[in-house]
Amino acid sequence: MFFKRKPKQQNNETMDMARIPKHIGIIMDGNGRWAKSKGLPRKAGHRQGAKTIENITDYCASIGVEVITAYAFSTENWNRPKEEVDALMDLLYEYLIQVEEKFKNDRTKFMVSGDVSRFSPKLQEAIAHAIDVTKDGDRIIINLALNYGGRDEIVRASKKLYGDICENKLSVDDVNEEVFSRYLDTYGLPEVDLIIRPSGEQRLSNFLLWQAAYAEFWYSDICWPDFSSADMDAAIIAYQKRDRRYGGV
Ligand code: FPP
Repeated sequence: MFFKRKPKQQNNETMDMARIPKHIGIIMDGNGRWAKSKGLPRKAGHRQGAKTIENITDYCASIGVEVITAYAFSTENWNRPKEEVDALMDLLYEYLIQVEEKFKNDRTKFMVSGDVSRFSPKLQEAIAHAIDVTKDGDRIIINLALNYGGRDEIVRASKKLYGDICENKLSVDDVNEEVFSRYLDTYGLPEVDLIIRPSGEQRLSNFLLWQAAYAEFWYSDICWPDFSSADMDAAIIAYQKRDRRYGGV
């Protein structure tokens, strides 16, 4: 349970509440290793990981983060054994059913980045329903990256852009970075400020390729299911110490 509270002291440092990152991307890695370390099946790690993102979303809302984009299923995850893919799909459905009422009540807005057309009709319906009933939420946005890959997103955006050019809705001379970004799944969301990857890996793994252009990165050895509000504090404090120059001096 998380409550609005003052950030706790971490290494004698506190968060600057005036410089909380608006948009945090999270690669929820290490579920399998967490489960293995406890002698549990991999799906138990994913289940615990789903609880962790629910708790972290609440915590982030309490400190003023506006958007969390969480990598829940990548375009490459289809290559996992069918049993694990099925378990992830079942878990996602369960999560949607479970959080929908809570999100409606606490004004959390649910969004998705990625191409969900490959999901079962039942799952697509649950996703569309959750998006619809939480669309007015103004507490925090939880944007799940589902069947998401940064390269796939850029290809899909390019196709849509080309379609609009062919239909004379847009001239090729009008295309610039700002116009292109309107075709991405994250259109309308603030710039990604911080990307967090736990579990010891230091890769982007096709996550938010376009959006990560000026994001700060924070890594940790902790497996995602164990990620706590104190870890989020540590990531934000580290972020606040960075000198973001955006290519300037
Ligand atoms: C990576 O851990 C994690 C994933 C591939 C999926 C993340 C999914 C969840 C947290 C659960 C589903 C989310 C929701 C919101 C329902 P890994 O399996 O690669 O871990 P490992 O590297 O230790 O094997």
